[in-house]
Amino acid sequence: MQPSLELIATIYTPEQLATAPLDAPQIALAGRSNVGKSSLVNRLAGSKKLAKTSSTPGKTRSINFYRVHPAGYHLVDLPGYGYARISKAERAKWGELIEAYLRKASGLRAVAVLLDSRLDPQHLDIDMVSWLRQAGTPALAVLTKADKCTQRDLSRRQAQWRDLMRTPAPPLLFSSATGKGLAGLWHALDKAALG
Ligand code: GTP
Ligand code: MG
Repeated sequence: MQPSLELIATIYTPEQLATAPLDAPQIALAGRSNVGKSSLVNRLAGSKKLAKTSSTPGKTRSINFYRVHPAGYHLVDLPGYGYARISKAERAKWGELIEAYLRKASGLRAVAVLLDSRLDPQHLDIDMVSWLRQAGTPALAVLTKADKCTQRDLSRRQAQWRDLMRTPAPPLLFSSATGKGLAGLWHALDKAALG
């Protein structure tokens, strides 16, 4: 059966986290602004309209909880990090919200770290991966926008990230535009969320 996604909660401030379903098994989607987190949610949902996307970075400003049916776990779309064109104060606020979420989500089974397959590893991505390692939270690396690269470049990028993350498995390849990697991503999410 084709899984479906339902938006069940939207959180704007650390205080509101008290009302969020933090104990339920969940996987968060993290990554720099514009990397394709919300587009990935839409591709998983088989709908272009569930999560708002934009060619302008900084679109998602809240934490959005989606329930996966029928599996029952949650996917959590986080605001992107590293967006330069907002005020320092607002960037700090997002950072605090993301960090508060990562610290408090007792049901968090893994964080899918989305990485732009066209770019060399970026400082903020390496920071995120290190943070997760220290916190003991499994990271599931996903290279996005795979439709924009040749297979040769994708393989090189996969090897680069595998070495950086010191994991035996290379990052998954994914394209929201073509659906490449969709089945493999579902498999990895289900396994990480439900064991
Ligand atoms: P923030 O909410 O700002 O953090 O961004 P986001 O990570 O949610 O990115 P979003 O899904 O809004 O996508 C950003 C832009 O990248 C949009 O213009 C998308 O159409 C485009 N995009 C996302 N995924 C893909 C993909 O797989 N292939 C291509 N070619 N474009 C993509
Ligand atoms: Mg988004």
